[in-house]
Amino acid sequence: MEATVIMLLVLSAVHHVDGDEQLPKVSGIANSGCDVFEGSWVHDESYPLYDTSQCPFIEKEFDCLKNGRPDRDYLKYRWQPTADCTFPRWNFIQEGNNVYQDMDRLVAYEKALNTWAKWVDTNVNPAKTMVFFQGVSPDHNNGSDWGEDKARYCEGQKQPVSGPNYPAGPHPAELVVEKVLRGIQKPVYLLNVTALSQLRKDGHPSVYGHGGHNDMDCSHWCLPGVPDTWNQLLYALLLQFYN
Ligand SMILES: *[C@@H]1O[C@H](CO)[C@@H](O)[C@H](O)[C@H]1NC(C)=O
Ligand SMILES: *[C@@H]1O[C@H](CO)[C@@H](O)[C@H](O)[C@H]1NC(C)=O
Repeated sequence: MEATVIMLLVLSAVHHVDGDEQLPKVSGIANSGCDVFEGSWVHDESYPLYDTSQCPFIEKEFDCLKNGRPDRDYLKYRWQPTADCTFPRWNFIQEGNNVYQDMDRLVAYEKALNTWAKWVDTNVNPAKTMVFFQGVSPDHNNGSDWGEDKARYCEGQKQPVSGPNYPAGPHPAELVVEKVLRGIQKPVYLLNVTALSQLRKDGHPSVYGHGGHNDMDCSHWCLPGVPDTWNQLLYALLLQFYN
C-alpha cells in the first residue's frame, strides 16, 4: 500500500479541472444532492464493460483472466449508489532536512497530505480550478477485516462483501484524509472511493498478477474492475457539475 498511497497523492494533485463554480467542501454530494459513493455492488449480466483482448492499455499484471484466473463472477459487479442518482516499499522518508529510515505510515501520510493541502491553499484559484482528491485504495491482505479469519490474503475470493458496510469499518487512512480535508480552506472535492473499494475483496489479482501462482497481489486491482468504477463516478460527477 505504501507506494500506492504516495502515487495517489501525486495523481490527485494533478487532477485539476477548470470551472467557475464554488464547490461543496469535502463531500460526496454534488449539486443534485445524491451521494454516488454510498451504495453496494450488484450483479449485472451486461458486465464486464470491455474485453481486455481489445484493449492495448491493460498492463499484464492486471489482466487476471489472461493470467489464468478461473472464476469470472468478479467481472460482473456494477456499483449501485443507494440514492437515486441520475447519472515496493519505500526505504526512507525525508522531512525538511531530516531523513528517517522509516516512519509510521499513517503519520507520514498525514504529513504529506498537510503539505499538499498547504500547496492547494496557496496556489489554487477556485474560480478557475476545481480540485479533486482521490481517496485511498484499500488492500485485502487480512481476512479478519471482512470476518474470514482463515482466509489466505485475498486468494480465492469470488464475491464482494454484500451490502454497504465493511466489517472492519472505515479505513484508517480515510480518517486521516477526512481530517486533513476538514482543515483545508479551498474547496476540494473528495472522490470518496475507499469504502466502496473495501467491499471488493474479490477484485484483486491475488495469484493471477504475474502469469499465475507466482506471487500474491491483494492491493492492485484486476481490469476490467474497480478502477473503472472510480472513473465512471468521476465522469458522472463532472457531468453533474457542468450541467
Ligand atoms: C465516504 O463514504 C463513506 C461511506 O459511504 C462515508 O461513511 C464517509 O462519511 C464518506 N466521507 C465523506 C467525507 O463524505
Ligand atoms: C489480521 O488482523 C487481526 C485483527 O486486527 C490481527 O490480530 C492479526 O494479527 C492480523 N493478521 C496478520 C497476518 O497481520
